Amino acid sequence: MDFYDRDIVSIKDFTREEIEALLDLSEKMVPYAMGEKTWKPLSGRILGNLFFEPSTRTRLSFESAAHRLGANVIDVSEMSMTSISKGETLADTIRMVDAYCDAIVLRHPHEGAARLAAKFSINPVINAGDGAGSHPTQTLLDLFTMRSCKGSIDGLNIVLVGDLKYGRTVHSLSDALTVFGAKLTLVAPEQLQMPDDIVRHLKEKGCPVRQTDSLEEVISDADVLYVTRIQKERFPDPTEYRKVAGMYRIDNSMLREAQKDMIVMHPLPRIDEIAPEVDSTEHAKYFEQAFNGIPVRMALLMAILGGEEI
Ligand code: CP
Repeated sequence: MDFYDRDIVSIKDFTREEIEALLDLSEKMVPYAMGEKTWKPLSGRILGNLFFEPSTRTRLSFESAAHRLGANVIDVSEMSMTSISKGETLADTIRMVDAYCDAIVLRHPHEGAARLAAKFSINPVINAGDGAGSHPTQTLLDLFTMRSCKGSIDGLNIVLVGDLKYGRTVHSLSDALTVFGAKLTLVAPEQLQMPDDIVRHLKEKGCPVRQTDSLEEVISDADVLYVTRIQKERFPDPTEYRKVAGMYRIDNSMLREAQKDMIVMHPLPRIDEIAPEVDSTEHAKYFEQAFNGIPVRMALLMAILGGEEI
């Protein structure tokens, strides 16, 4: 499959076969991601990291992935440090950064920003999260983690809990899970339910979807519990945030109802939705999931910059 020079804007742009090919390549990258082996096929290439919203994992794992493969990184982590603060448009900013590097990784507060950037960049653009829109590279590492932990994704009962309205990770992930034949249970308070158009789309694609606000009701059926943070920064009204903050909290007493091999995932950062006592249980896979960002992003960079045939 040929990913060379391709934009990574939405997970919807990929077939199951393409996703599986990327996951297979990611598996091969693990010893390099861990520093056990070295390989510098992207020596001399430059990655441009533009992060106009806070990030720890996505920004640093892209940077780490690039360094592990021998590429250099130029980066900006605040919009106020660019000429956007003087009134330059995103389109012109992208044209400039495009001239200075071989691929652009963009995180932006506005939905659709990555698609717009891809229009103005000759080199490939990778969407690292666009507002409440999507986060396709997070989805790839989520799928990689599920496949590594459970052997296969087909037929898994996956419970998504938390902020399903504004959560770009669950928007991208739920879409990808439909092509893997997973069953979805969506757990959220009334105010943070998955948007209707996404639920309709999931059902149209033949995905069994159950919706509830009670995690206790469904936890015993879950193969994967995917927890998300209720995102204070996305609420237009802080009093609305306070009504739902802390509504779901996974702790060891709740996990007593779960299957022994049920895994708990979270894109992170977490605030109080997973108690620290869960970290040392066999269920906890969220730190492993965050590490998986490196091999998966190495695979992606190899595929789009290195022209690796996969
Ligand atoms: N999962 C994720 O996107 O984390 P960051 O916001 O820290 O990049």
